[in-house]
Amino acid sequence: MAERISVFGTGYLGATHAAGMAELGHEVIGVDIDPSKIERLARGEAPFFEPGLPELLSKHVESGRLRFTTDAATAAAFADVHFIAAGTPQVENGYGADMSHVDSVVETLAPMLDRPAVILGKSTVPVGTAQRLAARVRELAPAGDQVQLGWNPEFLREGLAVEDTLRPDRLVLGVDPHDPGRVEEVARRVYAQALERGTPFVVTDLATSELVKVSANAFLATKVSFINAIAEVCEATGADVKDLADAIGYDERIGRKFLGAGLGFGGGCLPKDIRAFMARAGELGVDQALTFLREVDTVNLRRRQHVVNLAAAQVGGRLNGARIAVLGAAFKPDSDDVRDSPALDVAGTLHLKGAQVRVHDPQAMDSAARVWPTLDFVPTPDDAMRDADLVIVATEWTVFRELDPDHVGRLVAHKRIIDARNCLPERAWIDAGWAYRGMGRHSA
Ligand code: UDX
Repeated sequence: MAERISVFGTGYLGATHAAGMAELGHEVIGVDIDPSKIERLARGEAPFFEPGLPELLSKHVESGRLRFTTDAATAAAFADVHFIAAGTPQVENGYGADMSHVDSVVETLAPMLDRPAVILGKSTVPVGTAQRLAARVRELAPAGDQVQLGWNPEFLREGLAVEDTLRPDRLVLGVDPHDPGRVEEVARRVYAQALERGTPFVVTDLATSELVKVSANAFLATKVSFINAIAEVCEATGADVKDLADAIGYDERIGRKFLGAGLGFGGGCLPKDIRAFMARAGELGVDQALTFLREVDTVNLRRRQHVVNLAAAQVGGRLNGARIAVLGAAFKPDSDDVRDSPALDVAGTLHLKGAQVRVHDPQAMDSAARVWPTLDFVPTPDDAMRDADLVIVATEWTVFRELDPDHVGRLVAHKRIIDARNCLPERAWIDAGWAYRGMGRHSA
């Protein structure tokens, strides 16, 4: 059965969720305070790069199942289910999450709700937020406790966001045990297709649902930093972290995924989520439980410094004036997101140390130039590498993985390459006469 749905916030999460809900057959209205974003979405265009999303947006803007507005009242009048998908970035002067966007959705929407409705929070929030917001909704909504709030965390990965939205590996719903049960009933209707396919559905309390999301991200961050810490030991001993990860990954209890050693994690989620989690644990008086996440963060940031040091060593100790090609600016491939991007961080640091840095990224150059306007962004990988003293592969885009070492060898001044994502076929590069350096590898 088609539901009438609104999605407040149309960033990476909200825009994809809105389009995904329309694809599942629902009638959807997306809301944002940014008129330029809404204009593009209303034309069926994605305001950021996400594979498969433009097709979905244009299909459903055309079919009429998907609309966009800056007017919250239109959405409040139209929908019976309201998703909150506003961002929760790191606060400017601390580790905590900035809740102002999520709070302002509730402050705007709730006073307009004069008939029964369900609000489902998707944003990643500090534990305790949902309960606070539920009380606020009861206070503000003219329909009072006929408006119920649940928490329905989102686990989508950028680059695979459409697939993750349409075919999630699990659904989680936090409900207030005192509510009369409408939240679960509505969620079951919204996600009927996934539930029919047998997708695991964990219904729990509000606090657990909030913690599920941050715990999942903390675990993933820990796994990446674990293998990067081992990479440091490998570098000191001449061992090879890739073989090591393969070998431990065969153990089903460990698994090979997220054991890719390299430049570490970045993006709009993992870094800020572990910091917000630590901040919240401090407020709750259990900071000791999560002090290990500080180390996870430190190991992660140390990878960036390691690549900068390796680059300096490769060009003979002096970065000043060295011509360095940095391939990649996005925090990971198939995304134009440069939030807390390790690749861009390395490029910027080298630039500040006086290197002549040229950067190419297949999708993220516009977003990167907004953060680092003084970096030299060039239109092709060849432009970046021509006459370079050193090449650094900082994001593992397929076009970089598939570079031909002979062709590139004819462009550069010196055949030196740092494979900061361990993503190149190193034998082919070494055989073509390159000084190849991986991360935690024999050659590192
Ligand atoms: C993450 C979570 O996976 C997702 O469930 C959540 O909803 C949002 O945060 P995302 O930020 O899109 O998703 O990226 P993800 O694919 O998880 O990668 C995170 C970071 O870890 C990237 O910077 C990636 O390069 C890095 N990474 C990943 C590694 O360094 N090594 C690995 O082996 C895997």
